[in-house]
Amino acid sequence: MTKEINTIAVCGLSWGDEGKGKVTDYLAQQSDIVVRYNGGNNAGHTIEANGIKYKFKLIPSGAVLEKEVVIGNGCVINPKVLLEEINNLNKLNKKVDLKLSSTAHVIFPFHIALDGLEEASKGEYSAGTTKRGIGPTYSDKAGRWGIRIFDLIHPEFLKPKLEKLFQIKKNLIKTYDPNWDMDLESIFQDYKTYGERLKAYVTDTAYYLNKAIDSGKKVVFEGAQGNLLCIDHGMYPFGTSSNPNALGISAGTGIPPKKIGKIVGIIKAYTSRVGEGKFPTELFNDIAEKIREQGHEYGTVTGRPRRVGWLDLFNIKYGIMINGIDKIIITLLDALHGITPIKMCIGYELNGQILESWPIQHEIIEKCKPIYKEFEGWEKKSSEEWSEIANQGYDSLPNAMKIYLQAIKEELKTDIAIISIGPNRNDTIVLDEDLF
Ligand code: IMP
Repeated sequence: MTKEINTIAVCGLSWGDEGKGKVTDYLAQQSDIVVRYNGGNNAGHTIEANGIKYKFKLIPSGAVLEKEVVIGNGCVINPKVLLEEINNLNKLNKKVDLKLSSTAHVIFPFHIALDGLEEASKGEYSAGTTKRGIGPTYSDKAGRWGIRIFDLIHPEFLKPKLEKLFQIKKNLIKTYDPNWDMDLESIFQDYKTYGERLKAYVTDTAYYLNKAIDSGKKVVFEGAQGNLLCIDHGMYPFGTSSNPNALGISAGTGIPPKKIGKIVGIIKAYTSRVGEGKFPTELFNDIAEKIREQGHEYGTVTGRPRRVGWLDLFNIKYGIMINGIDKIIITLLDALHGITPIKMCIGYELNGQILESWPIQHEIIEKCKPIYKEFEGWEKKSSEEWSEIANQGYDSLPNAMKIYLQAIKEELKTDIAIISIGPNRNDTIVLDEDLF
């Protein structure tokens, strides 16, 4: 007999910051467990609930609802940041029911130092990283000298591995900065203490999650970043060092692909990007300024103003293929209010030819011209008015917005499951009540 699978994955289809935190929080209400499977404290999730704004970098969004949350082996962990987030939740009287994978890799201060130095030396190929040590930690994982959470909670294993790694990294860092130094003993002592404090959360999460799914529990997989930042299928090298799309779930958790029930893709009503790299529909004018202000497009992790531009359905169609998307969720429609006309990119032209597939290589994308469709915009409204519209449902949306949404659905040949028109949990219109 086939077991019923009650799992859903939430994946960003652009360059991240599509509003996954809010959507995961919404889905978490109906779920038992929320799981992060990639990235580290380079991600930022903002959730607004009951008048409180929660900002997470590492802990899965379900923590606001005191759900069971799991950080899978595909993540890289800065233990100091994780402990701070646990502490902050405790201060708000939130119980933290966390399971941390023993095989996730650990970020050390020398990874953070290397991130900055390597970025600076890459020049035009720099990705504009968050400088949180993400890339250097994943490099060590692939190089097979990384240190894992299991080592962190066993000082007798941590010490010899750290001594070796520290020497190698120190030699490397000194090629960039001959004066660099750090005290190995104090790093060891700090990390030993972090290990002691995190020990209670450490679990074999692959077994734990497989058992939970087999027993019918409802699980949400929460991707960090977005498809176009994927190390394998994104705009290399201008991305992150993990697989932020649905392809990363199995490797990053130990859950076989067969147990991933549904995959929903999140897009914004426009596009944003942080960091470097080509962005074909990018805007530089007063419309960009307006979208940035209305959409509060400033990074949760770094505070950097995000680059913004028109919605690019060509790269989203690519994301739908790579992720195997069942339904679409659209966020931040309210942020386009008062802007008319609104443009939507439906394809690229290269040397007079219309392209059939998204070109992937940044050197080619650079030469492409977006092909746009134009739409009438909708009127500016206060956040209270948007909340009221959300409360009344789809029919009360402005007509122009409905036309825009219909065009997205037709271009993507994918149904829309949820529409978000404000930052609050309730500023959400659900078109598919049966997502799980
Ligand atoms: P890293 O992940 O810090 O190595 O940064 C690599 C690239 O991914 C940079 O262009 C970052 O701006 C981008 N990036 C990393 N995390 C996020 C995120 O959560 N949202 C958007 N962009 C991100």
